[in-house]
Amino acid sequence: SSVAINGRFFSNQAHSQPPLRASFGIAFDIDGVLLRGETPVGGSPQALRRLYDDSGTLRIPYVFLTNGGGVPESKRAIELSKLLSVPVLPSQVIQGHLPFKQLAERFGNELVIAVGKGEPAAVLSEYGFKNVLAIDEYASYFEHIDPLEKFKNWSDKPDYEKSTFRASDMKMDPCLERVQAVFIVSDSVDWSRDIQVLCDILSTGGVPGREISSQPPLYFATDDLCYQGLFPMERLGMGAFKIALESIYNRVYPHPLDYTSYGKPNPSVFKNAENVLMEVAASSNGLKTLYMIGDNPHVDIKGARQAGHPWFSILTRTGVFKGKENHSLYQADLVVDTVEEAVHYILTKET
Ligand code: G3P
Ligand code: MG
Repeated sequence: SSVAINGRFFSNQAHSQPPLRASFGIAFDIDGVLLRGETPVGGSPQALRRLYDDSGTLRIPYVFLTNGGGVPESKRAIELSKLLSVPVLPSQVIQGHLPFKQLAERFGNELVIAVGKGEPAAVLSEYGFKNVLAIDEYASYFEHIDPLEKFKNWSDKPDYEKSTFRASDMKMDPCLERVQAVFIVSDSVDWSRDIQVLCDILSTGGVPGREISSQPPLYFATDDLCYQGLFPMERLGMGAFKIALESIYNRVYPHPLDYTSYGKPNPSVFKNAENVLMEVAASSNGLKTLYMIGDNPHVDIKGARQAGHPWFSILTRTGVFKGKENHSLYQADLVVDTVEEAVHYILTKET
């Protein structure tokens, strides 16, 4: 049986085949390596196609290792399949917020707030959180919480009525219920509203306007200062939002903001990617070499270098890094122009 993607047929049993017997695996960064915005760059569809055989069966184990996110991995896999014209399984998608899954047990039944573009509440819900509200929905219960709201004529306002994650379904009053944790799942869309509401939640201990107690835990999916989108100059990422929130919070309130950040270059992210690659490869013996192809020296290359053996870092010039030589501080094992060149190098060396 097969599945057609952009007119090309692929076996839909890509990973139910016998072990791939590859001794290496590849982790692809997304923004600035495979895509800029929603546009493929660096010959990415052609590069990925080389990882499948003629019948469309996966022959080289690979994963997407991105600090981006905002939709559940299952949905992102479908989006990536369409944009890059290859079949992608949810298990191949490692987004910045995936470590939040480990916190589902701790906060599973508590009220938690999800912040960011896309469907942040759906992300946490898929991870097993039962009582999660998007900050859009949460803020809508507090009259006058955002004094600038009337000036924000967003063309595409979130439709709370259609939201699957409504406070009314949870049989609780968000204005009285204590928020037990806040998760920055993806890039904040409305910095002014989100910084204001987060200050309200975090400075009061989780019940805006009611009382003061200790700050609920705050988690950031990643710490990227900048990333490369479609605009020629780098765009401000979640790390920049964190600086803004932290600076304001620490100036206004007596206790410094306490938080935890995940994502690349954290060594645990690379360890998890290694485990996922072994699963994709159906190999329990380990893989001899793991290639990280990234565009951001401070994130992708620093992370792969810190992770050490068996990681081999490849830096492309299609994103954040635009230098002629290697990066001065975080030197990659190899610098190439595009992901297509990177894959060509790997396949020539390995096969
Ligand atoms: O918002 C996405 C950005 O922070 C990084 O994405 O794929 O380059 O890790 P990526
Ligand atoms: Mg990138």
